[in-house]
Amino acid sequence: MTIHITVNGTTHATASAPDTRLLDYLREELHLTGTKEGCGEGECGACAVLLDGVLVNSCLVPLGQLDGAAVTSIEGLPPDSALARAFGRAGGTQCGICTPGMMLAATALLNEHPRPTLAQIRAGLDGNLCRCTGYTRIYAAVAEAAEEPD
Ligand code: FES
Ligand code: FES
Repeated sequence: MTIHITVNGTTHATASAPDTRLLDYLREELHLTGTKEGCGEGECGACAVLLDGVLVNSCLVPLGQLDGAAVTSIEGLPPDSALARAFGRAGGTQCGICTPGMMLAATALLNEHPRPTLAQIRAGLDGNLCRCTGYTRIYAAVAEAAEEPD
């Protein structure tokens, strides 16, 4: 079975097994290694991507469900967006494991709530775990990005 999937605007055809995790397809077949594996169980958000605009944990999504779907990974976000600038300025870019998922979750949040309250920012990022430095700077970065046009 050939599966067609659009990733960051480019459509690919793959004959990978339908039970291949989207996370593995991105990393191993497309070499898009910005999407990270943390828990591998849907608990940490390190592997988060947008699937047809909706935030999902790619470790839980089998390729077989994705024929015709559009995926955005961290490589598909503009490197100079207001969000990226704000993460850099506010010190929200803390480690390489959680940051890609945080950025994707923040993108989904800002698409839904362009001017989020702190409670909405917390709720939007509550599926993304940081086990080290904490969330203060990340929340600040998202709030700053909301104030700034792209
Ligand atoms: S690696 Fe997918 S949620 Fe943790
Ligand atoms: S896990 Fe990445 S900054 Fe904490």
